[in-house]
Amino acid sequence: MKNSALSSPQDAALAGPGASFDISGKTHNPQAGLRGNYSRMAADYTVPQHLTDYDGAQQARWTRLVQRQLALLPGRACREFCSALESLDVQRGIPEFAAVNRELFAATRWTLVGVPGLLPDDVFFTHLANRRFPVTVWLREEHEFDYIVEPDLFHDFFGHVPMLFTPVYGDHLQAYGHGALKAKRLGGLDWLARLYWYTIEFGLIREAGSLRAFGAGILSSPKELMYALESATPQRRPFDVMTAMRTPFLIDDVQSTYFVLDSFEQLHHDTAPDFTPLYATLRDEAG
Ligand code: PHE
Ligand code: CO
Repeated sequence: MKNSALSSPQDAALAGPGASFDISGKTHNPQAGLRGNYSRMAADYTVPQHLTDYDGAQQARWTRLVQRQLALLPGRACREFCSALESLDVQRGIPEFAAVNRELFAATRWTLVGVPGLLPDDVFFTHLANRRFPVTVWLREEHEFDYIVEPDLFHDFFGHVPMLFTPVYGDHLQAYGHGALKAKRLGGLDWLARLYWYTIEFGLIREAGSLRAFGAGILSSPKELMYALESATPQRRPFDVMTAMRTPFLIDDVQSTYFVLDSFEQLHHDTAPDFTPLYATLRDEAG
């Protein structure tokens, strides 16, 4: 899927949270095509990250991925992303989650946890609801440098982690985790997954009058970063909860629609109400 490596909501094609994508049957069957080693994980699907497991070629590939993306960020990535990224010093090499966690926890009380890859919906949302962000421990192969089917370390870390340093964003993402567990009970996850997709993965924000990216799927993809901000082709619509939930998304190409926030406070505020009646409306519309 997309070059940007989705993400769940997890990257949906991964399918996202909603999207009725269910990997639980696959995690116990390595032949089923799910990437990553799920054989030694803990009950909550976490695995330790060992920096010594990455070889020189992987370290070098990480740095090339980072440098290519850094060159495109000025004038395109939102200011919160840029300032957190600076303090993370990602050019030096693959970041050690334990070291990042000391800074991250001090900033927003979020914690990174290593995972083998995509997670079942409920596992993923439970982590978010507890302010734990799952980061895939493996890095894409060289032949996937430009395009990767599943979220890898580069997408998860470079794309997602910087935004976790922003308090209101972190509070929103935790609330999303709770909201997604609730949506699952109410049968609303397919709709709520779209909200994640159009914000956490592919969201844009207006900053001092200019359009900037904050979505991880955009910020980890050179192609989509330029496309989302500069192409005349896609629609860019003001963020609206119901409109986003009514808009199906593409998992294997650049998006045809992007939603634009005025602020992260707007995102947090607009998603705070009880979504139960919204799911009822969407269900009625679906017939
Ligand atoms: N407030 C929503 C509900 O009650 C949950 C939610 C939180 C949805 C944050 C999206 C983001 O269902
Ligand atoms: Co992602």
